[in-house]
Amino acid sequence: MSETILIIEDERLLGSELQHHYRKQGYEAIWVENCADARRKLKSRSVDPLLVLSDLNLPDGNGMDLLEENAGNLNGCEWVFLTGYGDVPDSVRALQLGAFDFLTKPCPQEQLDMTVHSALRSAQAQRRLLAGAHDSSQRYQPDSFIGSSPAAAQTRQMLQQLSQVPYSALILTGETGTGKGLAARILHYSGSRAKQPLVELNCAALPKEMMESELFGHEAGSFTGAKGRHRGLMEQADGGTLFLDEIGEMPVDLQAKLLKALEDRKVRRLGGEREISVDIQIIAATNRNLQTDISEGHFRADLYHRLSVFELRLPALQERPSDLHELVPSFLAEFNAKSGKKVSQLSPRVWGMLERYLWPGNVRELRNVLERCVMLSTSNVLPEQWLQLQSAPLPPATAIPVSPTSTAYSPSVPDKQDDDDLICFRLDGSLGLDDMVGDIISRMLEKHEGNVTEVARVLNTTREKVRYRIEKFQLR
Ligand SMILES: Nc1ncnc2c1ncn2[C@@H]1O[C@H](COP(=O)(O)OP(=O)(O)OP(=O)(O)O)[C@@H](O)[C@H]1O
Ligand SMILES: [Mg+2]
Repeated sequence: MSETILIIEDERLLGSELQHHYRKQGYEAIWVENCADARRKLKSRSVDPLLVLSDLNLPDGNGMDLLEENAGNLNGCEWVFLTGYGDVPDSVRALQLGAFDFLTKPCPQEQLDMTVHSALRSAQAQRRLLAGAHDSSQRYQPDSFIGSSPAAAQTRQMLQQLSQVPYSALILTGETGTGKGLAARILHYSGSRAKQPLVELNCAALPKEMMESELFGHEAGSFTGAKGRHRGLMEQADGGTLFLDEIGEMPVDLQAKLLKALEDRKVRRLGGEREISVDIQIIAATNRNLQTDISEGHFRADLYHRLSVFELRLPALQERPSDLHELVPSFLAEFNAKSGKKVSQLSPRVWGMLERYLWPGNVRELRNVLERCVMLSTSNVLPEQWLQLQSAPLPPATAIPVSPTSTAYSPSVPDKQDDDDLICFRLDGSLGLDDMVGDIISRMLEKHEGNVTEVARVLNTTREKVRYRIEKFQLR
């Protein structure tokens, strides 16, 4: 569907010219000549414009009143006024009501086009956010933070509690991959601002020079390369949440500006005169020790105190190894669904490796390891050779199924876990013959340090048959 522009203009020549001009650019340009027609179209939702380009003085009313009537539905639609009579108080009122811009006639076509295109981009961005918000609200609830260890349960309870209270700022700390991004989404989508935008800025991903204009926005020409007007992320997050990821990477001078904006609840675009009120909740995240950064002068103590009204530390995976028994089945299910595989068996040996590993990259690393294993699996047994973890000595290989619940694996299942010559298989249909054969050959190869002749001798078969199965099950 093409993008719609609603033109409200009583000067016939200008109205039809604008309609023609934007139709030529591929937009669905609808032109009405008075407030009543515009009101009808907007109310009945027979048009759903990304942009309303409106005159101010119309034969049956004022374009600004129309904007005011629609103020509750502005998300995903921008308003630009184009008027011959507007004065400063008018433009102030229009912008206070949420108009994108206020231009006076005659306006050079180039300038109008630039404003129109910026406004359309802004409306499209809002729509993308809105479309994602519905799915996200279902996806990001406190229960999405998996784990029943005391540390995980406490985190979940904190997320639950925090999502119920109005806070202006909050800080999430924790090592890389512990779920700070996940926690931020849960806090937003399970809180009262869930239907408003969640806008994210990763302070480590943007060059210092761009961060300020990203955050505060800019007016056309405010610096070299500043084409058109840009609404900053703080403005875009109005009513919702601004997630400042890796806040420790924000330059100190910008930290001061951020603090001022938070205290005043107002932003001023770069090169702009006007202060714009914003109502945002800030969630900041860092894996740095901000106290150290403060003592070294890299982080402002006043901003830290402003943000750390609430501080939530996400526990490292190493502090809650029992949660592996919920995380692993959950990630396996996710990657199985994505790849059409059915990996469901983990040998105690693999479990041992997972449990002993220190997981410096935390849950993210676990996800990545499991994704790799599922993608490269050739049976329903998690292929050990793709774990590629550096681990301590291992228990014997006995495949047992993982269930999607936390009680999936109990290390006491095989009776003689330490007996190196024992292999147990479940005979409940969850393992095929190939899986069992593959597992036997794999165990034998390990026991005999990859010596195929020895494996063939012990299994009373030929080397060719062993080699064939090594190839078939990709055991090397
Ligand atoms: N408790 C959890 N339950 C389910 N998934 C989790 C959990 N913790 C983290 N994850 C998942 O692990 C991945 C990494 O988490 P996330 O990106 O939130 O970490 P982070 O703390 O923001 O890391 P970084 O500091 O590197 O940005 C994500 O896919 C996230 O959904
Ligand atoms: Mg993150």
